[in-house]
Parts: sequence; C-alpha cells; structure tokens
Amino acid sequence: MEPDLHELLRSLRVWDTELPGFAPEEAPAEPLTLFTRWFAEAVAAGQPEPHTMTLATAGEDGLPDVRTVMLHGADEEGWAFASHVTSRKGRQLAARPYAALGFYWPAQGRQIRLRGPVTVASPEESQADLHARSTGALAAALVGRQSEVLPSRAELDRASDAAWERAESSPDSPAPTWTLYRLRPDEVEFFQGDARRRHARLAYRRADPGWTTELLWP
Ligand SMILES: Cc1cc2nc3c(=O)[nH]c(=O)nc-3n(C[C@H](O)[C@H](O)[C@H](O)COP(=O)(O)O)c2cc1C
Repeated sequence: MEPDLHELLRSLRVWDTELPGFAPEEAPAEPLTLFTRWFAEAVAAGQPEPHTMTLATAGEDGLPDVRTVMLHGADEEGWAFASHVTSRKGRQLAARPYAALGFYWPAQGRQIRLRGPVTVASPEESQADLHARSTGALAAALVGRQSEVLPSRAELDRASDAAWERAESSPDSPAPTWTLYRLRPDEVEFFQGDARRRHARLAYRRADPGWTTELLWP
C-alpha cells in the first residue's frame, strides 16, 4: 500500500524538543562570529551534516532555482562553495552573480539565511580547494558534465570508474570547470525556533563599515 502523505504530515511536529535560548541583544556585532558559534554548537549537538546548505540562484529569465551544496568555508570574503561553472547553477550565476544560502539545523531549531553578490575564485584557488578535499570529491569533479542530460546509467558508471582511477593515480588532476564561488552577504538572518512559537529573528545588514541589526517579527 502506498503511504498516506497527509496522514504522515499530520503526525509530525517541529520545535517539540529541548531548544537552546537565544538573546539577540547579546549577539556579536557581526554575523560571521555568530555563524561560527552556531555552527560549532550544531556540530556539538550532533546535527547531521551541518555543513550542507541550500543554494538559491536565479537564471537569466529571473526564475528561482534551488539545490543543496557543501559549505567550503566562511570568512570576511564570504561563504564559499564549489561547483561546475558549466552546470545549471554555474550558468545561472554567470548570468546573475547573486544568490541566497539557507542552513537549517533542526537539532536546535535554528535557521540561517544569507543573500548577496557571488564572485568566482581564480582557477588556481579553485583547483587548490578541490585538491585539498577527498578522493571522492575529486573523482566527482572529474566526471564533469554536471546538469547535462545523461543517456544511461551505464554511461555514468563508465565515466565514474575512469574518474576514480584518475583521482587515485593522479591526485593533482585538474577539473577545469570546477569553480570555487564566494557569496559575500549583504544580509544575514539568524532564526531561533521556540516551542511556544515566540521565535527570535535577528537580521544583520551590511553597513560598510560594520553591520546594523534589527529584530524581525516571526
Ligand atoms: C548533501 C549534498 C551535498 C551536495 N554538495 C554539492 C556541492 O558541493 N557542489 C555541487 O556542485 N553539487 C552538490 N550537490 C549536488 C547538487 O545538489 C545538485 O544536484 C548539482 O550541483 C546540480 O545542480 P544544478 O543542476 O542546479 O547546477 C550536493 C547534493 C547533496 C544532496
């Protein structure tokens, strides 16, 4: 029997676990410090894969698109992720170098979202970032052709076997289309869920120099 989606949806809850408190008035003056603090707390709380995030882009047509990518780092230059410049997202970012990122860490009822312009790192930096990662990451990047139509699974198996062999025998192999991107946020918003739905939302806006903050109604 097929599962009943609506029955399942009615049976599920959010924010019904012990959640941490958050006092926005005690938050640091800039978002990177708070992001790093919340990230460390997510890891400590056992949140699975807190380094995965939703990346939203828009194409030339202005229509939104979304997918999950890995966070490669965050510093004053921005939040870094990597992908193929030739992929759908790569083409969208080339047309409109602006994006949004979303993190959701249900273990603590926390959400963080960022939006801002996106820049492309140099090919040298992109390749160095790739080569510092796992053999699997290199093999995946070497397969290439991301977002193109795949005629058959057998074709992927062949390309993947060849890419793994190459990644293992030549760990410095370049993956020319693999590109490191940085989103330098204009806005960063922190959301702390609350069992009584008195959620806290703290929005940082870049003021150059520094940041302004404001609370938002949940
Ligand atoms: C947990 C997770 C992590 C992922 N990380 C990446 C990543 O770092 N880079 C990437 O290009 N794709 C990553 N993907 C695959 C993307 O979600 C997406 O399928 C792929 O990049 C093609 O997207 P596009 O067609 O919009 O360009 C990841 C998928 C998942 C589920």
